[in-house]
Amino acid sequence: MRTIAVIGSINMDLVVGAATLPRPGETVLGSEFRVVCGGKGANQAVAAARLGGRVHMVGCVGTDEYGRIARKNLAASGVGVRAVRKVAGATGVALIVVDAAGRNLIAVAPNANAQVRVPRRAFDIVVMQLETPFAFPHARCFILNPAPARLDAIRSGARSRRRPLEGVDFVIPNEHEAKSLTGCGSPARAARELRRMGARRAIITLGEAGVFDDSTGRTHPAIRVRAVDTVGAGDAFVGAFAAAIAADRDDPIRFAQAAAAIKCTRRGAQSVPSAAEVDRLLAHRPLRKERFHE
Ligand code: RIB
Repeated sequence: MRTIAVIGSINMDLVVGAATLPRPGETVLGSEFRVVCGGKGANQAVAAARLGGRVHMVGCVGTDEYGRIARKNLAASGVGVRAVRKVAGATGVALIVVDAAGRNLIAVAPNANAQVRVPRRAFDIVVMQLETPFAFPHARCFILNPAPARLDAIRSGARSRRRPLEGVDFVIPNEHEAKSLTGCGSPARAARELRRMGARRAIITLGEAGVFDDSTGRTHPAIRVRAVDTVGAGDAFVGAFAAAIAADRDDPIRFAQAAAAIKCTRRGAQSVPSAAEVDRLLAHRPLRKERFHE
């Protein structure tokens, strides 16, 4: 099995559950408050490790109590933390509201995450997001989850101006990030543009509408569940996808969809299932080819 290095953010998530999400200028009263470990990088590392991957985290925490908790949580989840540095100041924090349908609003203060540096050494599989400073890693397989969508950050670390995603093996944005990076509203057109920008393969997650895979031109239908919390669903998908690639699984997209679907039925960004739970779900939901469309 190949090793996965996740280079990215480590946050503490301050989460308020509310009936509805507030609009700009509006105050809503929440029903509950939780403090849980998060950060796109840490979420993806925990997901990949829980799903059977051999995972190392490259990131930064602050000298505060949140940093101590976040590092300990990564280690307890089976993630290697030797490359998690403690730096002066506060750990990254995310303010999150989750509504009754499981939808969310998120604002992040990067804090210690701003000091993450991409190592010079080479790795087997590297997974990155864009909550930390971006540079291209040395990797046999590079999976980029461009969240939040920051084309300027990618461009500044790119090897080629014309093809800023040159060197990315799998780019996995959601539909909003894909549109923001390419200007294209249709997943098929956005994926084509992402490949024109240099990515070898584009996989666009579409929430309830499934996942678009440009290598087949198909949309894999979503696995329907009763969602209570979608925070970290995309991270569960990316972490599971990396674990599936590392283990040479036959259908990494379906595996990742199942992991993300189960995550949505649980509260907390890192409430990811085990590989056995994912396999069980997939055994009960065989692929329904007739629901695929070009
Ligand atoms: O993708 C969800 C994550 O985004 C949260 O855990 C939060 O910390 C932000 O990084």
